[in-house]
Order: sequence, then structure tokens, then C-alpha cells
Amino acid sequence: MKKEFLRTILLFLFATNLCACMGNSNQSGSLTSVKTAFDQKVEAILNQMTLEEKASLCSGRDNWTTKPVERLELPAVWVSDGPHGVRRAPTSDVGGFGDQLPATCYPTASALAATWDVELIYNLGQALGVECQSQNVNVLLGPGANIKRSPCGGRNFEYFSEDPVLAGEMATAYINGVQSQGVGTSLKHYVTNNQEYKRMLMSSEVDQRTMREIYLPAFERAVKQAQPWTIMACYNRVNGEYGTQHKELLTGILKNEWGFDGIVISDWKAVVDRVKGIKAGLHIEMPGSEGVNDKLIVEAVKNGSLKEEVLDNLVKEILRFVLKAKMQEKENIRFDVEKHHLLARHIAAEATTLLKNDQQLLPITREKYKNIAVIGEFAKKPRFQGNGSSEVKPTKVDVAYEEILKVAGSDYRLTYSQGYSLTEDENFSMIDQAKKDAAKADVAVVFVGLPQHYESEGYDRTHIDIPPSHNKLVKEIAEVQKNVVVVLVNGSALTIPWKEEVNTIVEAWLSGQAGGGAIADVLFGKVNPSGKIAETFAKKLEDTPAYLNFPGENRKVIFGEGIFTGYRWFEKRKIEPLFPFGHGLSYTTFEYSDLRISDSKINDTDSLTVSVRIKNSGGVAGKEVVQLYVKDKQSTLERPEKELKAFKKVNLEPGQEELVSFKLGFRDFAFFDALIDQWVVETGEFEVLIGSSSVDIREQAQLMLKGTKKYPLNVDEYTFLSELLNIPETKTLLHKHFSAYFKSQLKPGQTFDDLQIEDFILEMPLVKFTYISEGLISKEQISQLIDEANKITLTR
Ligand code: BGC
Repeated sequence: MKKEFLRTILLFLFATNLCACMGNSNQSGSLTSVKTAFDQKVEAILNQMTLEEKASLCSGRDNWTTKPVERLELPAVWVSDGPHGVRRAPTSDVGGFGDQLPATCYPTASALAATWDVELIYNLGQALGVECQSQNVNVLLGPGANIKRSPCGGRNFEYFSEDPVLAGEMATAYINGVQSQGVGTSLKHYVTNNQEYKRMLMSSEVDQRTMREIYLPAFERAVKQAQPWTIMACYNRVNGEYGTQHKELLTGILKNEWGFDGIVISDWKAVVDRVKGIKAGLHIEMPGSEGVNDKLIVEAVKNGSLKEEVLDNLVKEILRFVLKAKMQEKENIRFDVEKHHLLARHIAAEATTLLKNDQQLLPITREKYKNIAVIGEFAKKPRFQGNGSSEVKPTKVDVAYEEILKVAGSDYRLTYSQGYSLTEDENFSMIDQAKKDAAKADVAVVFVGLPQHYESEGYDRTHIDIPPSHNKLVKEIAEVQKNVVVVLVNGSALTIPWKEEVNTIVEAWLSGQAGGGAIADVLFGKVNPSGKIAETFAKKLEDTPAYLNFPGENRKVIFGEGIFTGYRWFEKRKIEPLFPFGHGLSYTTFEYSDLRISDSKINDTDSLTVSVRIKNSGGVAGKEVVQLYVKDKQSTLERPEKELKAFKKVNLEPGQEELVSFKLGFRDFAFFDALIDQWVVETGEFEVLIGSSSVDIREQAQLMLKGTKKYPLNVDEYTFLSELLNIPETKTLLHKHFSAYFKSQLKPGQTFDDLQIEDFILEMPLVKFTYISEGLISKEQISQLIDEANKITLTR
């Protein structure tokens, strides 16, 4: 009763506060008083708190709850993993492996991203939110928006993509969906937690531009577009400083630049220096430190090394978070297990990616085949999620073989052979029987991939191959049966040495508890596959971007490939991938035409509308992911060949067409110039490319872009003479401050226009000109030149 009352009051305060924030003019008379009502409540609680209570709020009570303050009737908030299902422990003090409450296990992030379907991911978020409410979970610990830097990353199955736009859009949709149900999310692991190897210590050494263009933008998008209630700070160090105490990341960028208004929580046991963390903007340490770190916070305030005001600000934000979470709790919510299972099946089918279908073996139809040999232990022992903290206890599990039997019905004859053992990678003893079955059938459907011990949270892969027994099985079956359909079960990219020996390859991912049904739907054409891989598949590990710098050594991992992650690397290096980013086939075909851009000449501050017509030119209904890439044709800094900037999934009946449109703006053409710490758009030619994958570009348009924004020059004593002579404005300054020296270089009768300076001297930094000029230029003159040059701003 008391709880209900508190919630009603809070709900009122918060709702009216929200109205005020949304600028509801009808209520403007009472705006100021209403606007502050919620904050007043927060202030009132804060004012009653002792220093010890404030410090105590900055860490969890146990594994899954924050600390309540009973004296002030401040309740605890419950958090649970995430991301692809709710891993709610029976009680908050247990880790919750195996014994958690059953929940729907949806496909993991690699699969979710392969749908490229933001509406679907929003729906998934809603369903997850409902399941959280039904289990009294206030915050779901996900999604993970880290970029897949190396295919070896142990947690790649939990991350969306190698591309920040795709990862950011997926994360946004997920967060908006979950939060629409009054449940918070925790966007993780902020940031550059791209490997598992020594994740508690490794320092990700990332240059500023790469950080801004590759590793931050997915978080940035999600924060700006969805405002997750919480962000989870990573285990690793970022350029030397732990993510949980990185002030620039937690306060400078996240809060001040992006306007994040939630709270930052630590990854579990990721805190090193708690007081430094408070100063940096880390609100809650999880799962807590048994009071040890709380005492340090109290001591720091008492001895003056931590201002109480800094702590108060964080505590205020924690209070807001707790109250907001509690007032959105719903009672007596139950989720419809069957409906959610069907949603999981639908998502898994949408994620299923047809990598190869050369002879149109798929879909399986009665006209084509009667006898089907199903081969591979995965068909009977599904592997449907990854290892580690994301493991969900499913409500039920579909087994592919049984689902195939159901969907196939009595029209087909099926056999099953195990083919390999999921626990013994080099046991080849089952291959003969599988070959016999395959030879007798009209088509062999062979399930292979990564067994559970191959990919997991906690360690990285050292290679990207599937077990030798799986490879041998496929090769030998292909020798006796020409109709081979390989179904891949894996959470991250792998090599396929027998790609040319089989006609058909279907990527099924870690497809959640209903994945078995989904693959049956796709194999028999009940669902037309429309997934596209969100990560490049390489022919061999040595071809991948981080190969020389993964997982690092001597406590550091150098992100040496810079901005050239994923397809950006393969394209720049002209390395042919096994399957390119964005690739995925369909049982139908699509025609692209009529690409139009709103203007062929625009200014950097204008927006550009792009439209293109897509037609289903085949015989069955299908979905296509239309991908928009931008290519910068000339630039002062090195740029990728092209970059994904937008995408849209369309659903078309045979013969149906649709005009798809996109809007591009400043950031879609910009690169980050670390020298001036700004996003820059330079005047020049760009191309807008529309593709069915990153390599299958169907339409392109030329664009002339004019930079109108002015940028500082960032001149310092290490700026080269040549750089200043090339710019008219700074050339004039040089003539002013270096005139004595320049005069000394002129032959009689020559003017400054005749000045010829040797290349050797041109490529000298200003700092050297005190002695190069043999004393004709003083240190002061160089400083003056620099000061005046730095007042100049120019377009680029
Ligand atoms: C993982 C997080 C997870 C947390 C709680 C950590 O080890 O890195 O992703 O949310 O545990 O289980």
C-alpha cells in the first residue's frame, strides 16, 4: 500500500515534470512550479541524507540491486542481463547462472544486426521490456554497442556490427523499445572493449580520430536518439586510463557533449580507484565492494580531496534514476510465452542470411526433392546463444531437426546422421555414415559451425576456423552429393574453406530459442531470407584489419588499423573478402533504378535528400536492405573508400516497387580532424552510392559539396613553413614577420614574388627558423606569427 502510494506521488511528479520539459504550453501557467516538483523531491531526499548514505548509494547492494535507503523510503533498483533475453536471478545475491527465471532467449546481437530492421528491433525491445516488468527488473543490461574490431573478439556474438552507423541504429531501436515499457537499459561497454583478453587491464590505444569516427559514434547515436537510462563503463583502460574513471569519456564527451542525462554504472568489478571514478562521473559501482569503497568516498570528502558538491551531483542523478525506475514499475505483468517465442522465431528468420544459392537449391520444394539427409549434431543439439553473462534460461527450445520434420510434413523422407561430436573437434568417426545418408538422398542439409567452447565471454578466439571434423564432413559430403545446403551455426565470422565445393550456404547465427523453427521456415521457403551480414567474413584471419595488433601485448592493444575497420580495411587494401559486409541473398531479385539527389551542388550545412526506386523483379515476396554509402573523392586526410550512412529494409510483393528515401546531413560527409578537435567537411566531390551490399553497388550519383564552415588553422611552432606559404592569409603574415629573413634570400632587384625557397627549408617547422635565419627571426616573432595565424579561420 505504502509502495503504491509512493509510486503514485512520484508518477505525478515525474509526469508533470515531463510535460514541462516537453514544453506543453497549455500548462505553462504552472510550469515553473511543476517543473521543479520532481527535482524538489530529489533535493528533499538529498538534503536528508548523511554523507555515509550518499556514499552508499554509489555502489550496488549485491549482484543485481542498488542500495536502498530504508530510513528515507528510497527503494532498491533491480538490474539484470541482457542483452538478448532477461537473465533474472532468483534472488539478488546470487550470480544466477543456470538457475535464473525462464525468459525468452532471442537471437544474439550478430543476428539482430543481420536483420537491418530497426522496427523489428524496436519490437524486440518492447517484448524484452514486458518480460522485465513481469520479473520486476528495472534495468536490462544491454545492448552492447562495441565495434567488432577483430573476428576473434570473444564477445562478438553480443555486439552488432563492425560499422558504427548500423550498430548505433540497432542500439537506438533496442533501447527505445525496452524503455517504452518503463524499463531502463544499460548501453555497454563504454568504450573500446573490443576483446576479452586481459580485459581487466588492457589499454586500448586508440587515436582521437579513430575514436570519434569508429568507436564512439554507435554510443553517440544511441545516447542522442534514445537516452538509455544507464551506460555501463568498460573493464579495460582507454589510452591508459580505466574506463570507469575516465573523466573525458564519462563527463566531457558523454555528458557535456552528447547531453547524456542518465547514470553511469561500472561493469561488474570494473572499478579500480573509486574516488577517481566519482570525480570522473561514475555514478554506481556494481556489484558493490562490501562497503570498502563507500568508506573511501566518505574519507575523501572528509579530508577535502573530494568536494561534497561533486558527490551530491552524482547522488542527485542516482536519486532521479531510482525514482524514475520505481515509478514506472508495473504490477502483475505476465508475458505471453508462446507469443514471445513466435517473435523470437520471426526475428531469427529475418536474421537468417543466405550467403550462397548458386543453383537455386533453396527453397526446398516437393518438385525438387523428396529425400532429405539432415546431417550434423547442431540439428539435434541446438546452439542458440553465447557463453557468459548473457546466457538466458529459455522458456523452451526448438530443435531444428524436429522443426524441419514438422514443416516438411509427410511429403518428404528425412534421415538424420550426427556427422561429428560437438565436444570432440577431431572425431572423424561419424563422417562415413553421414556420407552414406547424403549419397542416398536428393539433398543434404548439413549443420556445422562453432561449438560452444569456441566463442565465449572471457576469452577470444585464436583462429576463426570451424572444427576440423566439421570441415572434413562438408568436403566429403560434397564429393558424394551435388545438392548440399550448409547451415552455419555461429555467433561471429568464420572461414569457409569449402565455399566453392557447395552450392548453398545459409548463415543461421546464434538464433535464440526458436532458431530451429526459423531455419525450417527458411529452408522450405515459408520465409524468404532477407538477412545481410553486419560483419565482413574474411578468407583467412591474416586478411583481417586487426591481425597484427590483436589482442596486444605488454598490457596495451594498439588500434593500429585506425579508422580502417571491417569493410573499410578490405576495400582500402583491395583484399577480397569471403563474403562482404552487407551481403545476403534472397529467393527473389530486386531491381534498383532512378536514383535522385535533391541537388547536385550543396553546402555543408544543407541537407540532401536521396531517393531510389526498388522493385521486386522476381517471383516471390521478399525484403531487401537498401544500403546507402558515401564516398569522399578528395580529402586532406585519408578516408575509407566509402562508408555506410543509412539503410532501409523494404518489403515487396512480386512486381511491387517502392521509392525509398534518405536524408543526409553534415556529419554524413564529415571526418574528424584531431588537430583541431572538430568534425570537418571539406569542399569537393562526393559520391552517393546505393547498394544491395557493400560491393554490389547498383546506383550512384555525383555530388559537389561546398564547405562554408570556417575552421581554425591550429598553427604552432611545429607547423611547416610550406603549410603557411600555401595559404594566402598566412603567407601575408609570413611576409610580415619573416621579412628580414626573406629579404636576405632575395637576389638584388628581386621582390617577394620572386622568392624561391629550397624544398629542404620549406619542410622545416617554424621552431627552427631562429637559427635557420641566422638570428634574423626571433622567438618572439615566431610566437607573434603563431598568435596571429591562430586568429584566422578558413573554410576548407
Ligand atoms: C559483463 C557485463 C554484464 C555483467 C553482469 C560482466 O562481466 O561484462 O556485460 O552485464 O557482467 O553480469
